[in-house]
Amino acid sequence: MNQMNDISKIVSAPPAEEPARQRFYIEKMRAYADEAAARLGHSLRFCVQTFGCQMNARDSEKLAGILSDAGFVPSAEETADFVIYNTCTVRDNANQRIYGRLGYLHTLKKKNPEMIIALCGCMMQEASVIEKIRQSYGFVDIIFGTHNIYKLAELFDNYISSGRSRIIDIWQETDKIVEELPVQRKYPFKSGVNIMFGCNNFCSYCIVPYVRGRERSRKHEDILREIAHLASDGVKEVMLLGQNVNSYGAGLESEIRFPQLLKEVEKIDGIQRIRFMTSHPKDLSEELIETIAASEKICRHIHLPLQSGSSRILQQMNRKYTKESYLALAERIKESIPDVALTTDIIIGFPGETEEDFLETMDVVDKVSFSNAFTFLYSKRTGTPAAAMPDQISEDVMHDRFDRLLALVHETAKAENKKLEGRVLPVLVEEINRQDETLMTGRLSNNAVVHFPGDASLIGTIRNIKLAESKGFYYIGELQ
Ligand code: SAH
Ligand code: SF4
Ligand code: F3S
Repeated sequence: MNQMNDISKIVSAPPAEEPARQRFYIEKMRAYADEAAARLGHSLRFCVQTFGCQMNARDSEKLAGILSDAGFVPSAEETADFVIYNTCTVRDNANQRIYGRLGYLHTLKKKNPEMIIALCGCMMQEASVIEKIRQSYGFVDIIFGTHNIYKLAELFDNYISSGRSRIIDIWQETDKIVEELPVQRKYPFKSGVNIMFGCNNFCSYCIVPYVRGRERSRKHEDILREIAHLASDGVKEVMLLGQNVNSYGAGLESEIRFPQLLKEVEKIDGIQRIRFMTSHPKDLSEELIETIAASEKICRHIHLPLQSGSSRILQQMNRKYTKESYLALAERIKESIPDVALTTDIIIGFPGETEEDFLETMDVVDKVSFSNAFTFLYSKRTGTPAAAMPDQISEDVMHDRFDRLLALVHETAKAENKKLEGRVLPVLVEEINRQDETLMTGRLSNNAVVHFPGDASLIGTIRNIKLAESKGFYYIGELQ
């Protein structure tokens, strides 16, 4: 056998190990994309639409990284050659949006039969969803879940090599974390960084643990290497991502927990702001509060989901804290970290929620004075314990409580944000204002949005801005 044959044999068999295996398939995908581009007279375009949370946004950047490495060019339009919906299933309206948009994709595919449609993400981890897509959405070509997004190029190859027959690859669980695959960031100057995957908390209303699997932390060496690399690539702000970052490190051999990880990230030159999401109140330690208070880089913002202010409901939700312990924690944070902004998530209409329970939630909002709160109507998720609980709340009652809560949130947020009016504070300039091109939009350390007159050359820089006027949830500022 001559040397040529040896080489061709090596390249025609995919390596068993990751990430080498996926790199092999990315090369194959590139050969396909090059051939198609020559035939069609244009590069193949991809469009990744992201639904849901920051986790999904980061996953989409990984999908975009693989596709870009394979020679596809990004497009914001769903008329692209390869359209991927990265789905969310945390509330039912997220699912309904996907079904609605799939109808539209079908009309596009009828006009362009070579178009490839893929669905991935949290919704695909539900057996009932897969069944529905099998039966009613035959035009979807590739379906995968949350555990195997790194395999996009391999799944694409399976699809093409099988003569374009539909590929469905859903894993129930994984203990695998594949590092070192390409990523295409949405912003050059800031980036999400996964520090852990999955969730072990099983809040009784929540589907995330079922669709994202058990909690797994990445090794701190891998996280720090990734952040150092991001810093050398111009990233100034990182957002450490996990469903409960406060339990980072559980299950790893290393002694490093979340506060130590933050201290290590702080040492990385070039990184100027560190954010994290999300903190579960049950695990937020005194050590973490002290670490934030002593830090130059950790942002003055803690997103601390309350869910309910009623201790009785919190117990039913399996949240493992009470109204009193939440209030004490919020107070402790505010006294230790000057200028900190607390934001929260609240669910209205959990099964059995009475008017008294609701008033407890209103009381916490009043006492803590959140800078912002995301309020959600309870959505029944099949398979979760809460779905089987008695006394599901009627729509009318839910909407009435929702409106009253929203009014209070507006009031407290307005009062809270007014406190910084007149101050000059650093703003990371992120983009041109979407409504008014003469304004730039950026964020304070506390995550509040500031709009100010300026030009696009400021994007990605941190500037001192005078907060001339507080408008409730945002400020109008002046560049100093
Ligand atoms: N891990 C994060 C939350 C992730 S889900 C945490 O524990 O804080 C984001 C938010 O969606 C939750 O905080 C909750 O407020 C909301 N949510 C989750 N399940 C929901 C449901 N079934 N109905 C309505 N809102 C829900
Ligand atoms: Fe859902 Fe609770 Fe896990 Fe958050 S901590 S993802 S609300 S189960
Ligand atoms: Fe949605 Fe999945 Fe995030 S269900 S909220 S995209 S973890």
